[in-house]
Amino acid sequence: MKIDGIHYRSVWLDRDDGWRVHIFDQTKLPWALEVLDLTDLSQAAHAIRSMQTRGAPLIGAVAAYGVCLGLRADASDAGLAAHAATLGATRPTAVNLHWALARMVAHLRPIAPAARVAAAYAEAGRIADEDAAQCEAIGRYGLELIAEIAARKGRVNVLTHCNAGWLATVDWGTALAPIYMAEMQGIDLHVWVDETRPRNQGAALTAWELGSHGVKHTVIADNAGGHLMQHGEVDLVIVGTDRVTRTGDVCNKIGTYLKALAAHDNGVPFWVATPSTTIDWTVADGVREIPIEERAASEVTVMTGPTEDGSLASIRITPSFSAAANPAFDVTPARLVTGLITERGLCAATSAGLAGLFPGMTPAS
Ligand code: MRU
Repeated sequence: MKIDGIHYRSVWLDRDDGWRVHIFDQTKLPWALEVLDLTDLSQAAHAIRSMQTRGAPLIGAVAAYGVCLGLRADASDAGLAAHAATLGATRPTAVNLHWALARMVAHLRPIAPAARVAAAYAEAGRIADEDAAQCEAIGRYGLELIAEIAARKGRVNVLTHCNAGWLATVDWGTALAPIYMAEMQGIDLHVWVDETRPRNQGAALTAWELGSHGVKHTVIADNAGGHLMQHGEVDLVIVGTDRVTRTGDVCNKIGTYLKALAAHDNGVPFWVATPSTTIDWTVADGVREIPIEERAASEVTVMTGPTEDGSLASIRITPSFSAAANPAFDVTPARLVTGLITERGLCAATSAGLAGLFPGMTPAS
């Protein structure tokens, strides 16, 4: 996607030396656009853990490049296993991270250590390219949903939660890809952007992305969505996801479940954009089986932003004696999901719906 007319991906290799890994530091957005230069495995692991880079598909791609950086220092069998273990321990919930590491290890293990670095960069590049292509396809299928509403009623109001845009993937985004395509088609579109406490990925990242592409949007407090749905101000909800079970349960940023409940109560379609790399075929019951990341309480108790002179300041918003809890994701049961938007098309959030688009995917594959 573009910033000031220049096309960027969310992870890319240095143009000169071809091995350093670049990402945007998403902890600085929307106040500053800074590029980070990752040169070793520990920097890649830190970037994922600290959420300098984030979003399910993107952390998969960055982890794949992290393996490349690790192999530059140690390309032995033990090194490969250790690099994957270090990167795999950074964040538990998004399955893309673990999928990408498993794919890298399976690809590289049979290759001789001396040839592993080159093979790793090639495989990580394929993971990145495939993610961009899958998200573009999701955009085309999701566009059909938006275009159908636009043909019926004119302006389309979409609500989204968290950031499932190009900052969360290699390119295009998942939930935002159909929105970008609708905008490019000239569809009259407006996006309600949930602020997404506590880290504010909606207010900081989705709003910045949409604004950079000229998409009309309004940031709302997380609790406003139900009210807007009751008053007919939301035509459809599109969110991304960090893990979809083979039965269609959807794990996504904390608060997604409440939006799905409100959408269900108000007859608002609730769609989830997911590349197949986010489907965990080994899991049937999302609430019981998906590990939910618990992040630092300080993300809830402290807020950071620019002061009037432009410098960043942090303020505490709770009493110093109050404890805080910070579960980062929740699970929306399949029964509340209208459907899934995948790179192979739309399907019901059911075992049969997923099996229809992805035949042959068994619980073990
Ligand atoms: O904690 P984050 O910011 O990595 O969580 C991101 C989300 O929950 C996104 O909605 C999800 O990864 C989909 S990304 C296309």
